[in-house]
Amino acid sequence: MKQVKTIFSGIKPSGDLTIGNYIGAISQWAEMQAYNNCIFSIVDYHAITVKQDPTILRRRILDITKIYLAAGIDPQKSIIFQQSTVPAHTELAWILNCLGTYMADLKKMTQFKDKAGDRQDAVSVGLFDYPVLMAADILLYDTQSVPVGEDQKQHVELARDIAKRFNNEYGPIFVIPEAVVRKEGARVMSLTDPSKKMAKSDDSANSYIALLDDIELAKKKIIKAVTDSGTDIDYDPAERPALANLLTIYAALGNRQIPRLVKDYAGKGYGEFKKDLAEVVAKFLGDFQDKFKQISDADAQAVLEQGREKAAEITQVKMEKIRAAIGVR
Ligand code: AMP
Ligand code: TRP
Repeated sequence: MKQVKTIFSGIKPSGDLTIGNYIGAISQWAEMQAYNNCIFSIVDYHAITVKQDPTILRRRILDITKIYLAAGIDPQKSIIFQQSTVPAHTELAWILNCLGTYMADLKKMTQFKDKAGDRQDAVSVGLFDYPVLMAADILLYDTQSVPVGEDQKQHVELARDIAKRFNNEYGPIFVIPEAVVRKEGARVMSLTDPSKKMAKSDDSANSYIALLDDIELAKKKIIKAVTDSGTDIDYDPAERPALANLLTIYAALGNRQIPRLVKDYAGKGYGEFKKDLAEVVAKFLGDFQDKFKQISDADAQAVLEQGREKAAEITQVKMEKIRAAIGVR
């Protein structure tokens, strides 16, 4: 029998969620909740590390809640909550800022370097400190596994380091978490440039398919997606990354195995493959959006309130231990 684990993950409401978010993150969460204790957050205090429009932010928080529910995350089995409604997250982040995290740790973070670029002095302190808030999210719940996409692995490694340092100093307070990265689909790539991750913040809307995209538009994006040279359908991520990416999307959204797809498309060309993939994507989005539309704002708000209560209860107990350990109580 599988051991029951405590699982935490979250997505920040800073853009329209894509099929990359679904394949790389949310779909595995729904599978995990059957035999684990799961906590899934809408991490709004991570979103404000870059400027957000308040009206849009408020809307996105509810939409992501609905996306979690439409993807099959069950609020009776899992805790679904909004990060900012549970103040322990920012409180612990401050404590970890002081006790366990060094400037050098954060300067090493690839995501910070990518996002700040050569403007490191002009971005918010929050963007720099982002991984510490993420460590707090994870460590508050005695989390064992953190299912994330490839790009978040480094942040989970940092959470481990912080937890170990803290435990060395103050006793065994934190459980040491582990990142879980799905092999296939861990990185769904851009449809216009297969060397880049498909991202909700991309400037080119043709590069990603949003979960709430108009279905006809989504089909067009697949038909327009770049392909590599060659004409046959073969899975070779190194030599033909664009096609490998489309096969990954096909397999994930169509519930198929890649080797099986390659066999089925033997002797057929890109044209036919893409037309079929467009239909697979359309079917997936259609079903997903039907579920999404059935959930009202009031339903989503009720789920968040129920989640807040459960998360607050767990974190209150944990914070008392942490405050006592460091001597502020
Ligand atoms: P983000 O959209 O960067 O806030 O990421 C939210 C979650 O979705 C994280 O676990 C990411 O690793 C995952 N994710 C985001 N984009 C992709 C992608 N293109 N492929 C796979 N996973 C992704
Ligand atoms: N930083 C994550 C991302 O950008 C989101 C996140 C915040 C997260 N806190 C977390 C993910 C805790 C997993 C666990 O995708």
